[in-house]
Amino acid sequence: MDNLFVSNHPLIKHKLTKLRDKDTDPKKFRELIREIAGLLAYEATNDLQVSPKDVETPMATAKGFELQEKIGLVPILRSGLGMVEGVWELMPSAEVWHIGLYRDERTLKPVEYYNKLPVSPSVGLCLILDPMLATGGSAIATIEVLKRWGVKRIKFMGIIGAPEGIGLVHREHPDIPLHLAAVDDHLNEIGYIIPGLGDAGDRMFGTDY
Ligand code: URA
Repeated sequence: MDNLFVSNHPLIKHKLTKLRDKDTDPKKFRELIREIAGLLAYEATNDLQVSPKDVETPMATAKGFELQEKIGLVPILRSGLGMVEGVWELMPSAEVWHIGLYRDERTLKPVEYYNKLPVSPSVGLCLILDPMLATGGSAIATIEVLKRWGVKRIKFMGIIGAPEGIGLVHREHPDIPLHLAAVDDHLNEIGYIIPGLGDAGDRMFGTDY
């Protein structure tokens, strides 16, 4: 499928296996989410624009580069928050924008309850962060908010995707690249990814009662 990038990196595969493990505790879970997010961001940003910039070393002038594009991180609350730090470590000047969506348990459709975007976009590229691309509803709703807001370049970064969600996002927004660590088998009747890792938010924030 065009625009679907599933990482083949051994570090990501190893960390994802630990992340899925039901015995991984919330502290380790958060650490793994952060690390995987950083590794995925490294792969997802390999086409960022740079401009030439000379730099003085202690010895002479060297030809170098600087990033041209301003980047916005858009975590889908709540589990997308766990991915922010890992990406931010690589690009500390990125801006973080919050859009709150929750999934209606009955319709499985996203409901927007919080949106703190400024009037016009101040960034060139937005990375949407959500560990679980399940039904695709939240991803599509977020993409639509960002497109309406005027963002020119958008990428989605997730950790596990279900074929159903990937297919839907791709059908509705074929222009949006999807960067994932794995594609799983299917969604169950209540919208969970199988085999997946359970509820990412609950496992991250320790609310898995
Ligand atoms: N959200 C999760 O946290 N887990 C799933 O399996 C699906 C959606």
